[in-house]
Amino acid sequence: MKIAVIGATGAVGREMIRILEERRFPVDEIRPLASARSAGRLVAFGGVDHEVRELTPDAARGVDVAFVSAGASISKAYLPEIAAAGTVCIDNSSAFRMQADVPLSVPEVNPEALEGWPHPGIIAVPNCTTITAVLPLGPLHRAAGCTSLVISSYQAVSGAGWKGTRELAEQVEKLGGDIEPLAHPDHDALPDGDVFAKPIAFNVVAKIGEFEPDGFTGEESKIMAESRKILSAPDMRVVATSVRVPVVSGHAVSMLAEFSRPISVDEARELLADAPGVRLIDDPEAGLFPSPLEAAGGDEALVGRIRQAPDRDDALALFSCADNLRKGAALDAIQIAEHLFS
Ligand code: A2P
Repeated sequence: MKIAVIGATGAVGREMIRILEERRFPVDEIRPLASARSAGRLVAFGGVDHEVRELTPDAARGVDVAFVSAGASISKAYLPEIAAAGTVCIDNSSAFRMQADVPLSVPEVNPEALEGWPHPGIIAVPNCTTITAVLPLGPLHRAAGCTSLVISSYQAVSGAGWKGTRELAEQVEKLGGDIEPLAHPDHDALPDGDVFAKPIAFNVVAKIGEFEPDGFTGEESKIMAESRKILSAPDMRVVATSVRVPVVSGHAVSMLAEFSRPISVDEARELLADAPGVRLIDDPEAGLFPSPLEAAGGDEALVGRIRQAPDRDDALALFSCADNLRKGAALDAIQIAEHLFS
């Protein structure tokens, strides 16, 4: 197949190229595309260096599939035209996720969304935090009908692209390992950055995206709307709180889910032990539970800490972690293509 990677120099774009190679996606031709700033740079694929070209409306002409991760405004500006010319665009941005005729899919959870042709030639990859949540929630919802979800996220800095990772590294370096002053910080002396709303080193920041009129942030609104769309549960009540944490790779979510019938911890564990894309790590007696660092570099959501809500037989608390750049973005895009074309 002829493929293009739009945003090939970015954090997700590079991961997509790595995964295409790893999974031996049938690539006859690869076109790495990015901004004019990167034109001429080289990207390795299949043992050969490929020159990065500037994204223009014509740059993807003749391409079968474009894997896209260059931000929502680039997707909005270019994808309708590229898709109209016959290229299937698999888009990691939020630009088209909630458009009714655009499939929004985690193939392990709602593969049926990919059967709905014809669509505008654009398929959306959900937000990385939504993917981390719906991988375990999907099987539980199918079995017992999730009616309400309270979700809090712990999101890695790499979710904000290279610049996010760099900002954490710079702030850690500036503090030089001297943690003592953080106990009684001189707030004016703390390292400040451009990417995160507050210092991210040794801190947590409860704002991802912009605040909206209802008080939720853009990220929280995405999680709420996307999880309903993926689970085909328009009436599910969802409240999300998104928090950036000084973790490089791997998002985590803590969830309290209510169901339309009783569901026990044992039943949930049985369902999740067999669920695709999920690895159950949940053995409190043996001290086993998941963390983002263990999820980083892997292809599955790691799920554990499953607890019955006190005095409720129809509500469970659980914790899920996934690599935000792989399963949360790049891998999901490639699994969508594999589902469509294999
Ligand atoms: P570039 O490296 O040339 O700026 P990240 O999420 O890691 O910040 O990456 C964003 C990706 O989107 C990069 O590959 C970046 O390319 C690309 N990008 C940003 N602006 C444009 C643009 N105007 N046209 C095409 N690609 C863009």
